[in-house]
Amino acid sequence: MADNTVHLSLEGTDESIELPVYSGTVGPRVIDVRALSKVGYFTYDPGFVSTAACNSAITYIDGAKGMLLHRGYPIDELAKHSNYLELGYLLFYGELPTKEQYEQFANIIRYHTLVHEQVHNFFKGFRRDAHPMAIMCGTVGALAGFYHDSLEASSEHDRKVAAHRLVAKMPTLAAMTYKYSIGQPFSYPRNDLDYAANFLHMMFSTPCEEYKVNPVLARAMDRIFMLHADHEQNASTSTVRLVGSTGANPFACISAGIAALWGPAHGGANEAVLAMLDEIGDDSEENIQRFVDRAKDKEDPFRLMGFGHRVYRNFDPRAKVMKETCDEVLSELGVADDPKLKIAKRLEQIALEDDYFVERKLYPNVDFYSGIILRAIGIPSNMFTVIFAMARTIGWISHWNEMVSPGSVKIGRPRQLYVGSDFRHYPADK
Ligand code: SDX
Repeated sequence: MADNTVHLSLEGTDESIELPVYSGTVGPRVIDVRALSKVGYFTYDPGFVSTAACNSAITYIDGAKGMLLHRGYPIDELAKHSNYLELGYLLFYGELPTKEQYEQFANIIRYHTLVHEQVHNFFKGFRRDAHPMAIMCGTVGALAGFYHDSLEASSEHDRKVAAHRLVAKMPTLAAMTYKYSIGQPFSYPRNDLDYAANFLHMMFSTPCEEYKVNPVLARAMDRIFMLHADHEQNASTSTVRLVGSTGANPFACISAGIAALWGPAHGGANEAVLAMLDEIGDDSEENIQRFVDRAKDKEDPFRLMGFGHRVYRNFDPRAKVMKETCDEVLSELGVADDPKLKIAKRLEQIALEDDYFVERKLYPNVDFYSGIILRAIGIPSNMFTVIFAMARTIGWISHWNEMVSPGSVKIGRPRQLYVGSDFRHYPADK
């Protein structure tokens, strides 16, 4: 129901059109432009900088304040008091679980962590040096071939079961991609470990000896999962929604989200941050400044990876929590003076003082510190985006569920400003 209207009139004509305006709970109001196509106009917004593609009740970002709310709860309070599975329940079901609901949900996830033994065969088809994200795109999409009882978007049962299976099995598949890349046998999940500890067990245990999970690292891992869980209509979530609007099954939608996340401008940034810190190399002042100058030079494609954000025009609240976690992990592991961390902290300081970054409100984002933590834990950089994809799965499937659960979904089909050739006949003399 519109709570206001805008009138659009075109210069030089007596054409005008009235468009409804809607307000959300909080945040910018929206102008419903659907009627424009009836009078021969489209809106034009490459990159969807000013376009709301849907309404949603899951996550809200206030870019100016640097605030991130999941179902209304701020991420810093959730990171402090909650855990990834409780946040997952909140994102998918809409409310924090009671103790009983949480125990039931955690048990469902715990008892769905195994993947079908046939899935192990997929890995043998990949080269050992295949990028783990390539394997994840393939194996997650292929799960649709195993779970014919949870493919129907119109069924509440199927939607819940698919969500539970995906959240439960992503860590198992992710750890399998790592083990495959280093030629070690897969480690099976253990039901006596919690979600993050189980992931570290599957990543680092071997049949040769008992692997003890460090609780500080497990807590840091869980917090990294929480900080990456959901983030409104980012590129990969919008991809999941667009694919889901065609009626595609949930495994195909999540596989599409993984593919979108892979790009270095999006989820691939955490891997790119480490590559950038390696490229910068020594932490001398003049060397760091040289790279900062390159990032400001329009002629130079170099960008400060881990800086900037389409929505945040203030500190990414996740980066603040990530930085605290980084300090905790590095001091626990006794690598507090990691040279890469010194370069990162110097880059952050320069960005907070340098006019180029201040004017453009380019602050560290969620990816800036996560790579340093993951590398300190012993996770190779080509696994960083896999971990982002694992964590974001609950966000993707919650948005998919929100979009398809009312039943009728309009297929997403953007229009264009056509700038190609006008009508012309095929040359008769060809
Ligand atoms: C994620 O959408 C989400 O929510 C994503 C995410 C999530 O949780 O899903 O938050 C996760 O993807 C975080 C972002 C990770 N990406 C990076 O760290 C890569 C480096 N960042 C840039 O590529 C860039 O900042 C983006 C892609 C993040 C945002 O790009 P925008 O909003 O399209 O901004 P822009 O490219 O128009 O930049 C505005 C200006 C430009 O300069 P001018 O043309 O105005 O002179 O800022 C400059 C850009 O050149 N700029 C940078 C910069 N980012 C933007 N200059 C140097 N270094 C950078 N990192």
